Amino acid sequence: MGKKLYIETIGCAMNVRDSEHIIAELRDKEGYEVVEDISSADLILINTCSVREKPVHKLFSEIGVFNKKKKPDAKIGVCGCTASHLGEEILKKAPSVSFVLGARNVSKISKAIKTENFVDVDIDYDESEYAFGDFRSSPYKAYINISIGCDKSCTYCIVPHTRGDEISIPPNIIINEVKKAVDSGAKEIFLLGQNVNNYGVRFRDKTLKKMDFSDLLEMVSEVEGVERIRFTSPHPLHMDDKFLKVFASNPKICKSMHMPLQSGSTKILKAMKRGYSKEWFLDRAFKLREMVKDVHISTDVIVAFPGESDEDFEDTLDVVKKVRFEQMFSFKYSPRPLTKAAEFKEQIPSDIGSQRLKTLQDLHSDILDEISLAQQGKIYTVLFEELRSNDMVAGRSDNNFMIQTNGNKELLGKFADVKITNPRRMVLYGDIVKT
Ligand code: 5AD
Ligand code: SF4
Repeated sequence: MGKKLYIETIGCAMNVRDSEHIIAELRDKEGYEVVEDISSADLILINTCSVREKPVHKLFSEIGVFNKKKKPDAKIGVCGCTASHLGEEILKKAPSVSFVLGARNVSKISKAIKTENFVDVDIDYDESEYAFGDFRSSPYKAYINISIGCDKSCTYCIVPHTRGDEISIPPNIIINEVKKAVDSGAKEIFLLGQNVNNYGVRFRDKTLKKMDFSDLLEMVSEVEGVERIRFTSPHPLHMDDKFLKVFASNPKICKSMHMPLQSGSTKILKAMKRGYSKEWFLDRAFKLREMVKDVHISTDVIVAFPGESDEDFEDTLDVVKKVRFEQMFSFKYSPRPLTKAAEFKEQIPSDIGSQRLKTLQDLHSDILDEISLAQQGKIYTVLFEELRSNDMVAGRSDNNFMIQTNGNKELLGKFADVKITNPRRMVLYGDIVKT
């Protein structure tokens, strides 16, 4: 009987991919298979996020739940960004945890499960050329890392302290991954990095020819069988004309761009060390809208960053009104250990943060209602990925709208044109007009 692994993943797409790598390592080297039922697991892993305080609290409550449900001899391991930042403290606070493996040390998972009280949270460890095995959660969509770490020093962000400096993965390894994914049925390639459009600045092998993200996008699009390319996250600062041109003109690149605004106030952007101004952001967003018909722009916004005045917050609302993001992820600022902003004076009271978050989200909900309504009657090509209840299937349009229609599993992994008949805020419902 094979050993059983239960794994819970919290956080971004990068963490989802790290979990896939962990699963592949444990399957290929240690004979584990993934189970959904925690009480049958021999090994329980939690792959965590550290970006805000909430998931960190969740870690310890989850460990409590695991302790109640697990087999007596099952091991618990903590991986990911919270593992990186708390390290040994996790073993002290939660003695039932057997090991702690930092976000940049995924390839050491075999060693971790075999070593008593193993802790490794090295943020200089270089896994950029490690040959992970293949495991993919979705047969149609392949996440592929293009870099590890992050070279920026945004003052609110813990990630550089959990994932270390940025190193790009060599293009030949990426292209090889793309080919393998396509050969095993993937239609969509999802390139991942903390800051994708900074690609190529540093490789482990110093003799590698310099190249940028636009060059990489072109290379990936030339691989036979690749039908769609997505990526996350790009940085607004590096959205130069060359990048926008490749994005706009390459038909395989999905017309959906994540542009993390964070704040609309140039003063706050400066304090955040984002490297761009309100004007630059608006210029790039308008240019994108002008160059790409029906482009979908998503964003991340933080409210109540230290020193944010009412006027600064108005600037954020102003950008949201002007760009009319198709999707917005918004957060109340959460002071994080090891970050500069946590030390800033002028921290904003929590209730003001909550009010601002509500104002921002209400504004965006209204915008989203208008955007959704305007989709009535439009036809989008959808790649179906999920079976929903009542004989419904769902997938995404090229420009990232979630679209749902009548259908069965025959449609999974296939493209079809759908005419929108009932647009709702989160999902557009429609009828297939062409398969
Ligand atoms: N507080 C609130 N939100 C944060 N983010 C990153 N750090 C913090 C923080 N300290 C948000 C940013 C980022 C997203 C992944 O999480 O908006 O883009
Ligand atoms: Fe991802 Fe950042 Fe969370 Fe780490 S801290 S899981 S990099 S969002």
